[in-house]
Amino acid sequence: MAEFLSDLKTLRARAREEIGKGPVTEAYGADLERVIQICNEALATELVCVLRYKRHQYTATGIYSEGVVAEFKEHAADEAEHADKLANRIVQLGGEPDFDPEVLAGRSHTTYDKSLDLVEMIKEDLIAERVAVSSYTEIIQWLGEGDPTTRRVFEELLADEEDHADDLRGLLERLPRDLASHANG
Ligand SMILES: [Fe+2]
Ligand SMILES: [Fe+2]
Repeated sequence: MAEFLSDLKTLRARAREEIGKGPVTEAYGADLERVIQICNEALATELVCVLRYKRHQYTATGIYSEGVVAEFKEHAADEAEHADKLANRIVQLGGEPDFDPEVLAGRSHTTYDKSLDLVEMIKEDLIAERVAVSSYTEIIQWLGEGDPTTRRVFEELLADEEDHADDLRGLLERLPRDLASHANG
């Protein structure tokens, strides 16, 4: 087993320095400013996803919309929870979570969508989930061992986004073929 790196006296002395930084200590191994910035990008992404799913939830119509609407509603609630987790982590890191609507759309990795066609909605949501899956995967790899707590937040989000993408793929597969194929072009 590897030796514990710092002696207790040094650890205690360091913990007394810069106590205003709360949980961020000299052992923090990532680029703090960049991590806060990335968390704010992910926060914007989640908030745009909430808005897109809500828009879809309330505008989906047609005989096949019932189960789909329930899925949109559930995903919107999940994305709102993701936004809360990110905002909480940003504050823990000493940053400010940015909820300014003027900057959200520009900062988000995913886009809003106002399709009125049920299949188009599901496809746009699936694309957004796939964008989130690949960007969160990259963020997790970039964080590495430098900030395990933030990495864990992104790992939780990633698992949910993969689940969402799988739900949406399932919905597309279950819709009647003629309905699904007309939006395939
Ligand atoms: Fe999310
Ligand atoms: Fe999602």
